[in-house]
Amino acid sequence: MTRVLVLNGPNLGRLGVREPEVYGAATLADLAGAATGWGSDLGLEIEVRQTDDEAEMIGWVHEAVDTASHVVLNPAAFTHYSYALRDAAAQITTAGLLLVEVHLSNPVAREEFRHVSVVGPVATGTVAGFGFDSYRLALEAIAARLVR
Ligand code: DQA
Repeated sequence: MTRVLVLNGPNLGRLGVREPEVYGAATLADLAGAATGWGSDLGLEIEVRQTDDEAEMIGWVHEAVDTASHVVLNPAAFTHYSYALRDAAAQITTAGLLLVEVHLSNPVAREEFRHVSVVGPVATGTVAGFGFDSYRLALEAIAARLVR
């Protein structure tokens, strides 16, 4: 079965507690359950992970490349400044794998520092602003691309 790593960056382990007016009341465990369900409906094997650590996230991206896994990535704040994560993420698409950048909120409708994504230019595409549905849409895009 096609494997997809759903990787979440810093502070996303705090979903449900953190700024619920922006990110909603549901938790990372809720997201993991939903993503796993969407994945099985789409014939994708999903693994959801979260880290606050840049080095760990980069290691997971390397793992995705080495295991030929597609990636749904919410880089969280790393989005806006981590050239190290961008350089790792670039290896996903150059390996012929799909990388979908996702955001719960719509960063370009928020503070100016969120308007730049250093990851977006190396992604296959980006889905932002739809809450948990950003992840569902990303998984649907991956599944649709695979059957084309
Ligand atoms: C986020 C948006 C980022 O700007 C922010 O730093 C996050 C979450 C989102 O999912 O909306 O932590 O990636």
